[in-house]
Amino acid sequence: MKVKNFKISPEFYDLQVDWDKRLKKEKDFFSRIFEENDIENVLDVGCGTGHHAQLFSGYAKKVVAIDPSGETIDYAEKNVIKSPNVTLIKEGFAGLDKIPYGQFDLITSLGNTLPILGNRMKVKQALKKIRKKLSGNGLAIVQFLNFNAGVLEENRFYNPKVFKKDGKTYIFIKHFEYGKIKTRMDFIITVIYKNKVEDFFINSSYLCTLKANLFLKMAKNSGFKKIELLGPGGKGVFNGKRDISLYALLYR
Ligand SMILES: C[S@@+](CC[C@H](N)C(=O)[O-])C[C@H]1O[C@@H](n2cnc3c(N)ncnc32)[C@H](O)[C@@H]1O
Repeated sequence: MKVKNFKISPEFYDLQVDWDKRLKKEKDFFSRIFEENDIENVLDVGCGTGHHAQLFSGYAKKVVAIDPSGETIDYAEKNVIKSPNVTLIKEGFAGLDKIPYGQFDLITSLGNTLPILGNRMKVKQALKKIRKKLSGNGLAIVQFLNFNAGVLEENRFYNPKVFKKDGKTYIFIKHFEYGKIKTRMDFIITVIYKNKVEDFFINSSYLCTLKANLFLKMAKNSGFKKIELLGPGGKGVFNGKRDISLYALLYR
């Protein structure tokens, strides 16, 4: 089979995420975070298309959103960011120390950005960099999949998402293949034109299999004082045998 690479552009990323639904699910959680903590400035690392940065701009004086993909930063600037208190910068974890505006009261890294770094060493380095960039009473929130083998296997196929663009219909299926050290993430994309399948693509990448216990160990070793794990939408304590994803609250 001929396999061509289908680039998940920021435009396609946004077409397959239901942002209204996702942000609605998280709204109470983030409102509570801003109410209960003294947060003047926020840094979102791996901000992607910028929807969280735009949301946070309503709660904080200053939001800095960074992503190493220049195309994604340009897309966010043109299509998503509306508030003047958001600054977008093309940068990743590697350049976190170089980000201006000093320390941050809240640092977020959402939507699997941490496991996408690919291996444990890079995740450990990222956690240390996050902690260094936090202000004295700062809080970091990272969100990622529950890599419990049973839960991941049970939810290995996400429901197909269908959308239309330029007269073509695209069917997206997200699939995970669990591995002890690395987990493969596939986007399987079928393109339909004039009622016929026109093309078919698989886009695969490897995530660090970041199990909750392993993550807790890494976060403690990075110096975080207190760590809380919450389930999807930040509602309630994380249940490792049931929840498909988690939010980790890391207090400096
Ligand atoms: C799955 S997307 C998540 C985007 C967004 N945070 C969300 O929740 O929808 C992962 C993002 O991480 C970014 N990324 C990849 N490598 C990175 C790195 N080394 N440092 C920071 N971000 C990175 C990618 O460009 C991409 O925008």
